[in-house]
Amino acid sequence: MRFEIPSLLWGGIVVLLTRTAAAIELDIDSYDSIKSATKIIAQELADGYWIPGDVHGVPHPPYYWWLHGAILGGIVDYWAMTGDTRFNANVTIGWLRGVSPSLDLQPDEQSFSEGNDDQGFWSIMSIDATERAFPETENQKEMHAGFLEITQTVQNLQAGRWDDKTCGGGLRWQINPTNDGFLYKNTISNGLFFQQSARLARYTKNQTYADWAERTYKWLREVKIVRDDFYVTDGAWLPDCKKFTEKRWSYNYGTLLAGCAAMYNFTDGGAYWKEQIDSLLTATYATFFDAESGAIKEIQCQDSDSCNADQPSFKAYLARHDGIQSSCGET
Ligand SMILES: *[C@@H]1O[C@H](CO)[C@@H](O)[C@H](O)[C@H]1NC(C)=O
Ligand SMILES: *[C@@H]1O[C@H](CO)[C@@H](O)[C@H](O)[C@H]1NC(C)=O
Ligand SMILES: *[C@@H]1O[C@H](CO)[C@@H](O)[C@H](O)[C@H]1NC(C)=O
Repeated sequence: MRFEIPSLLWGGIVVLLTRTAAAIELDIDSYDSIKSATKIIAQELADGYWIPGDVHGVPHPPYYWWLHGAILGGIVDYWAMTGDTRFNANVTIGWLRGVSPSLDLQPDEQSFSEGNDDQGFWSIMSIDATERAFPETENQKEMHAGFLEITQTVQNLQAGRWDDKTCGGGLRWQINPTNDGFLYKNTISNGLFFQQSARLARYTKNQTYADWAERTYKWLREVKIVRDDFYVTDGAWLPDCKKFTEKRWSYNYGTLLAGCAAMYNFTDGGAYWKEQIDSLLTATYATFFDAESGAIKEIQCQDSDSCNADQPSFKAYLARHDGIQSSCGET
């Protein structure tokens, strides 16, 4: 199930198209209309991705495990914004499967292919749940699987993987040294680590997290993964990070915006972070927003219809991780 959101604008009425379902009507000036359109999409996500009773809540192939964490994060936001609790039990079940048994978002089944970015998407879901005070069950507390605890565990694990022996720092994409991506320092792994550090700093007021956020962001800029003109590449290759994969993906911009917004808040309006936000936003609009319709476009694959199973969801993280809701005042 893939979504094209939104494709057509008729006055205030936006029609959301899915590839498999009929168009959903949406009046963006009406809260009730937004709520009911969102409910349909949330239900389609639940029906289309979750296999009831499946171990570790792995979505249907070809969708990967990380996407399940990303979807749970979307459902947490759905609950927070609509008050609709119908999927909350599913979130808890999916979460407990994701964290078990080692309580670090590294389930045994994923041990070969899990990258820092996969773990990061789940961890960002848990900081979402922390900030929004998503209800925790007694069972979850007894298991020490609280959202904040797990995010902090992942933070410490990933900080331990920081590699300054090559490229002056950064996280490698893959955790497992036998995977090709072990030789790649990609934007999304580092961008999610940055966002996680920044949001933890803001939530806990612990300076150690803020230091990690600053170190990670400044490294991305120094090594020119984020160029001086705010062209955000996909990542840089070892041994020296002088060779880049130049493709631009919307979720890379989104995660950086979210982290910068959290740091702007943590530093009580710090000028450096304001500049980063303004420049990243300008680049984001120029790169991904269709001038005519105003819709976000995944420029790398959308027009050519060549997106893989991961990529159609990237725009959602740009929209969700824009950082405005979570860090620059409520709504
Ligand atoms: C979601 O939770 C409901 C209520 O507990 C349950 O009936 C349904 O099967 C769950 N869906 C999935 C996909 O696990
Ligand atoms: C802040 O976080 C770091 C890293 O997790 C931890 O070692 C330290 O004890 C924390 N400091 C406080 C005051 O909680
Ligand atoms: C930081 O976030 C809080 C809570 O959302 C908000 O009240 C405050 O105005 C924000 N500060 C800045 C500088 O944006």
